[in-house]
Amino acid sequence: MLEKIIILDFGSQYTQLIARRVRELNVYCEIHPFNNIPETTADVKGIIFSGSPYSVRQDDAPQIELERFMQKYPVLAVCYGAQYIALHSGGDVQPSSTREYGRANLGYVSQSSKLFKNISETSQVWMSHGDTITEVPDNFEIIASTDSVRVAAYQVKGSETYAIQFHPEVTHSTDGKQLLENFLVDICGCKQEWTPDAFVESTIANLKAQLGDDKVVLGLSGGVDSSVAAVLLHKAIGTNLHCIFVDNGLLRKDEYEAVLEQYKHMGLNIKGIDAKDRFLSQLAGLKDPEMKRKAIGRVFIEVFDDAAHEVQNVKWLGQGTIYPDVIESVSVKGPSATIKSHHNVGGLPAYMKLKVVEPLNTLFKDEVRRVGKTLGIDDVILGRHPFPGPGLAIRILGDVTAEKVAILQEADAIYINNLREAGLYDQVWQAGAIFLPVQSVGVMGDERTYENVICLRAVESVDGMTADWCHLPYPVLAKISNEIINKVKGINRVVYDISSKPPATIEWE
Ligand code: XMP
Repeated sequence: MLEKIIILDFGSQYTQLIARRVRELNVYCEIHPFNNIPETTADVKGIIFSGSPYSVRQDDAPQIELERFMQKYPVLAVCYGAQYIALHSGGDVQPSSTREYGRANLGYVSQSSKLFKNISETSQVWMSHGDTITEVPDNFEIIASTDSVRVAAYQVKGSETYAIQFHPEVTHSTDGKQLLENFLVDICGCKQEWTPDAFVESTIANLKAQLGDDKVVLGLSGGVDSSVAAVLLHKAIGTNLHCIFVDNGLLRKDEYEAVLEQYKHMGLNIKGIDAKDRFLSQLAGLKDPEMKRKAIGRVFIEVFDDAAHEVQNVKWLGQGTIYPDVIESVSVKGPSATIKSHHNVGGLPAYMKLKVVEPLNTLFKDEVRRVGKTLGIDDVILGRHPFPGPGLAIRILGDVTAEKVAILQEADAIYINNLREAGLYDQVWQAGAIFLPVQSVGVMGDERTYENVICLRAVESVDGMTADWCHLPYPVLAKISNEIINKVKGINRVVYDISSKPPATIEWE
């Protein structure tokens, strides 16, 4: 049986980080919003309460029934969770005299506490709270303090309920990982068996049981997620998996052929569909980015639907959805689903009447890569930069024509090849060239030119939600600029985008 930890989300910005840390310790965990917690089953080994942007003293602060968890499972309550238990057990929580934010050092640690095993008395911790626990009931034992926070951690005596005011999931808490490991292993008794190998083995077995002899269709994009999903499904059901790879004419230069070849080489049952003209004709004259996205989404569905119909008796649609897309998180204003709908170009209509199978929907991106490695997928695929579904159409500002696509493909290929040659490709999270339909004057030889601008964009990021521009070396930028201007007809100027997100976005449209 797969052991798991449940993380109750009270809306903290750090909740996903707790999940990441738990998984890094090879323990499976799930995040659930505080107000939508599934029935807990025998496989649950412990519960973690997250922090929250709310104060426990607010009328509309998130509430839970503590009896559902305390004394039934080991509990680790973080920040808001710690204050919540203290307040609702007869203690008191008051606004801190000064808001405590940032690094602090413990000054006292109970040497006999299982939670603080192998953690030094002066360990650095990360604080982020506006309230302080000022009083705890008699049956609470204070097990750690800092100079200014007397109740930095407590245990409810005679139980496996622990609470900490600081954030162990943040790397600034130098022993945070040790503390989480103490909780997971020594207190919850987890065996740390959640590894990519174990995931692959159990997922393939589950897929076999779930799908039997049914047929599945799956749209491949060339990206990491759909590739890993395809290989898992392929290992489970073999040629009953029918992959479809659509050339929308908006891919990178030569990418369609290269990726198709790679997939075939991997043994996938794949059909490539050249739909370049269909996409380009539907894009003709469209200038508005959202109209372009909608048109591409619509044509994709038509093309995919046609191809799926050619497979007889198909019952399932495979998708490479990953965990961050499905986690319901709690926003400050109340629960909301953080699904990036505008990014999901391939959402399919109900009339296709297919059941959905999503083998990666419990994994974070870095876990998908590790699973991909375990499956033997080529590093070229696993290390590929994210690329938007609508492709180069949203990197050509305004209307899209075959000529502009060809120009951008050339410039982009020079850019990406140079990043690879300079050993920079893997350091950059995402890079791409953008076609700006702005004419400027230039001079080539004796001739005056009046041509377009290519903008280069390269960003560092963790998940694409925030990003900073990369400080690419000037000599590399100089080489790329020269090569583009010399070789790509129609371009006489190259600029570099030095905007961070926010306030800018990664794509220009
Ligand atoms: P932005 O431009 O919103 O991009 O900062 C964040 C990440 O999302 C990608 N992106 C898209 N992906 N369809 C997609 O599949 C889209 O319409 C889309 N728009 C942006 C972008 O490439 C970046 O990785």
